[in-house]
Amino acid sequence: MSEKIKVGVLGATGSVGQRFVQLLDGHPWFELGALFASERSAGKTYREAAKWFLTSEMPQDAAEMTVQPVENAVKAMNDELRILFSALPGSVAKEVERECAQAGYCVASNVSVHRMEKDVPLVIPEVNPDHLALINEQRRNRNWDGFIVTNPNCSTIVLALCLKPLMEFGITEVRVATMQAVSGAGYAGVPSMAILDNVIPYIEREEDKMESEPLKILGTLEGSEIRNADFTVCASCHRVPVMDGHTEAIWVKFRGEVNEDAVKEAFKKFKTDLNTPFAPQKPVILREERDRPQPKLDRDAGRGMSVSVGRIRRGRLKNELKFIAQGHNTIRGAAGASILNAEVMLKQGYIS
Ligand SMILES: NC(=O)c1ccc[n+]([C@@H]2O[C@H](COP(=O)([O-])OP(=O)(O)OC[C@H]3O[C@@H](n4cnc5c(N)ncnc54)[C@H](OP(=O)(O)O)[C@@H]3O)[C@@H](O)[C@H]2O)c1
Repeated sequence: MSEKIKVGVLGATGSVGQRFVQLLDGHPWFELGALFASERSAGKTYREAAKWFLTSEMPQDAAEMTVQPVENAVKAMNDELRILFSALPGSVAKEVERECAQAGYCVASNVSVHRMEKDVPLVIPEVNPDHLALINEQRRNRNWDGFIVTNPNCSTIVLALCLKPLMEFGITEVRVATMQAVSGAGYAGVPSMAILDNVIPYIEREEDKMESEPLKILGTLEGSEIRNADFTVCASCHRVPVMDGHTEAIWVKFRGEVNEDAVKEAFKKFKTDLNTPFAPQKPVILREERDRPQPKLDRDAGRGMSVSVGRIRRGRLKNELKFIAQGHNTIRGAAGASILNAEVMLKQGYIS
């Protein structure tokens, strides 16, 4: 790439926004051009506005930038920002993302509000890169210069990456119980007094997302529509006192008999040829040790972009296998996923 593409981050001061800032620092194709957040942060330098908590030093270039109110995002179009990575709360994102897409940006969004709209791609590049073709449909339908592309919820992405190589065996039913890290609740998220020494068996709207998003992602693009995958997902979601990394216990029922070795082989064989800076060599890494995966040991696998699986074993029901999966929620499940989507869109010519 001869000249870097200028990008902005919406919601740059939050848990996911900070991850964007960290991951974009030194990116070979993208250059951070603007940071946007609420009125609370607008006008301050990023150093003053963000309670940086990822590393000892925030990236120098970002630290000196002045945070702008999100309303400025559309105006900043003149400054040749081409991509906006969005990590806004849903209530704010709905309108802002639309306006930005209408104005001509590629909006690569982490937010749930547009994910299930028919002409909005919900993409994991290792799973359903062909769904990016919905971009053309969206621009036609809405008469927009730009477009919105979304990545899934942080727990969905872990699940969908594991299910993709198992689709060949004929999945009929999935049950999943999550153990989700506190960074998934946002910077101000769960009060420490509520989560330390505790497990909270409720995460607002999380189960709905986990039960619907995988079916769209693993569905088939037929003409200009997605036909959902033909199985059911039943999810139970829980917050646990882990900083980063969502762990999931997953039960999968198949049409016929499938043994553990076939599943292990399918995970091992699962490779992609995306060949972009954030694409992991292995989307799913098989852990053979009997007590893996664990968030502390495995969340940074593939620079946070690989999901780890282990404990593959027979379930109690007919044709059922169960296993544990683990992935980094703010990298693979959020900022890294959006950046990978943008890389693939650039490579496929959707961003000129
Ligand atoms: N955390 C995860 O693992 C994860 C994973 C996948 C998707 N997501 C999604 O990503 C989005 C961000 O999540 P988060 O965890 O990063 O949240 P967060 O830590 O609460 O950060 C929210 C960001 O949005 C900004 N903001 C809040 N209200 C605003 C307003 N009225 N106008 C403009 N900006 C406003 C905040 O700016 P100020 O600092 O100025 O208030 C902050 O930069 C959410 O939609 C979430 O569902 C999160």
